[in-house]
Amino acid sequence: MKTTLHLKLNGRDAALEVAPHARLLDVLRDVAGLTGAKEGCGEGECGACTVLVDGRAVNSCLFPALEAEGRSVVTIEGLAGAQGGLSSLQQAFVQEGGAQCGFCTPGMVMSAAALLSANRDPSDDEIRDALVGNLCRCTGYAQIVASIRAAAGKAGAP
Ligand code: FES
Ligand code: FES
Repeated sequence: MKTTLHLKLNGRDAALEVAPHARLLDVLRDVAGLTGAKEGCGEGECGACTVLVDGRAVNSCLFPALEAEGRSVVTIEGLAGAQGGLSSLQQAFVQEGGAQCGFCTPGMVMSAAALLSANRDPSDDEIRDALVGNLCRCTGYAQIVASIRAAAGKAGAP
């Protein structure tokens, strides 16, 4: 028995048929077709599944989909520019080498987007604090912090 979930998804009204105990991550990927958010651990440890719910970064692998009823959900696909180009934050990740294999990148970018929405000029410590729930096996984190620092100074970011 499925239930209709009504939400604003990447700025547009959406109605999705979901199972009562579905995870938001599965609904986004398998029902909405938005595969940017990734499943790493499935246990709230790695941050690869991070999306924004009402502007707050959450682990969508732990978030019950029906708790998104009536709320705004933004995925990495929702950060793209009006013509489908990269946002300032995404461009900064490209330019500063913040993405290597890219598996962690959607989650990193969404955590960074939440940070920059609340704090336009974060210190490196504040950036690292914002990423505490996001793991990366490739970059050593320095390039990710540099990417977010670079984006912070740009008008219109994230
Ligand atoms: S897949 Fe959600 S935190 Fe790892
Ligand atoms: S770029 Fe590979 S896990 Fe972060």
